[in-house]
Amino acid sequence: MRVFVTRTLPGKALERLKERGLEVEVHEGLFLPREELLRKVEGVHGLIPTVEDRIDAEVMDRAGKSLKVIACYSVGVDHVDLEAAQRRGIRVTHTPDALTEATADLTLALLLAVARRVVEGVDLAREGQWRAWHPELLLGLDLEGLTLGLVGMGRIGQAVAKRALAFGMRVVYTSRTPKPLPYPFLPLEDLLATADIVSLHAPLTPETFRLLNRERLFAMKPGSLLINTARGALVDTEALVEALKGHLFGAGLDVTDPEPLPKGHPLYALKNAVITPHIGSAGRRTRERMAEVAVANLLAVLEGREPPNPVV
Ligand code: DGY
Repeated sequence: MRVFVTRTLPGKALERLKERGLEVEVHEGLFLPREELLRKVEGVHGLIPTVEDRIDAEVMDRAGKSLKVIACYSVGVDHVDLEAAQRRGIRVTHTPDALTEATADLTLALLLAVARRVVEGVDLAREGQWRAWHPELLLGLDLEGLTLGLVGMGRIGQAVAKRALAFGMRVVYTSRTPKPLPYPFLPLEDLLATADIVSLHAPLTPETFRLLNRERLFAMKPGSLLINTARGALVDTEALVEALKGHLFGAGLDVTDPEPLPKGHPLYALKNAVITPHIGSAGRRTRERMAEVAVANLLAVLEGREPPNPVV
């Protein structure tokens, strides 16, 4: 049986596939052109894609009837056409849990960086502009006592909440349905109007596409802060650029729309926007664990067992 892996993965997980007698091809390199993806999937039984690869009906049809499992190297599955997979009887799996803590860490890193203007400070020092200590130099937000509003309260949202409590923040959240958690549930509009910091942790679906549209961005509390480590398309980027020019204190974005954010994009010109290149899960141990989980899911399906982390 053949498996195609669309990028090199850290760690030794892929060796397990070879030990089981599978023929494994790994694409090396930063980019995988669409044409090459279509060629490489022909006749494979398993596919391990990353969030960079759009896995739609065309890819599934090029793979043909042999394709049994798409074992995503991610928790998000918005890059996979789940209905097309389901119609063809192809299982889709993902890697929840593995990246929860790492993504929550990066959420806090961005939150702190924006609130305390860390990147502005680094730039100022590097550029030789650090000339004296001054009581009013780079004043930011004190986190203690602020209200953090979490949009989406799955594993990552809850891990962020735990960290926020340690900083003395008050946590409120919104999600599709209230959960038995020790934090107040608020409807989205109330959360936006009251939170000092809004952090997004919802999956990207047709319902959450541009959840933070212009109207909602400007309905956020004046002087508040937006953090997005989920998916860029949850936010209307053009409206965010406007909101950052006076309405919001700042934004920390690990994901953007478009992604990657092209050189020269207006967001880069804003000092109060801290942008990282989708590295939420980029802890070495986390990325190795994600590979192990993806491999375990793939092997389970190919060996006729129920995968540990099914999506469909
Ligand atoms: C995911 O897993 O969905 C992240 O965006 C990449 O690790």
